Amino acid sequence: MITESTIYNCGVIELNKIHNRSGNITTVEGNLNIPFNIERVYYLYDVPSGGERGGHAHRELHQLIVAASGCFDVVLDDGRNKKVVELNRPNYGLLVVPGIWRELINFSSGAICLVLASQKYSETDYIREYIEFSKFKKL
Ligand code: TYD
Repeated sequence: MITESTIYNCGVIELNKIHNRSGNITTVEGNLNIPFNIERVYYLYDVPSGGERGGHAHRELHQLIVAASGCFDVVLDDGRNKKVVELNRPNYGLLVVPGIWRELINFSSGAICLVLASQKYSETDYIREYIEFSKFKKL
């Protein structure tokens, strides 16, 4: 059940790296390397120094968050426990399940946060108020 999702259902996975002298390629295929179909891709960039993103949860959306360039921290909160995950390599990604409040902080200069998402954009999937998140989690 979505409301039973916890930060322990979120984790960093190693992605492939096709390496040669002229550089690397990392590939992600929906339902193959990650446990959901990819319906949407977006990326955050030009985040100003000290800038914070996120500050919300999703009701149904699954995401893979990758530091395609630079680094940043993702603070995960399931309403009971929190953990901080540092992302700093383009061949690692953080799987975030539905029902997790997240904040993205400590962006390095030039960081690019690539997000692969299981659904198209829908504002009704967002929980943007923490009090509403607590109710959603039945806390
Ligand atoms: P939001 O998801 O709140 O940003 P973040 O989590 O990075 O802080 O989105 C910011 C704005 O961008 C909001 O007005 C919705 C819009 N947006 C879209 O229109 N489509 C999208 O796929 C995303 C991710 C955001």
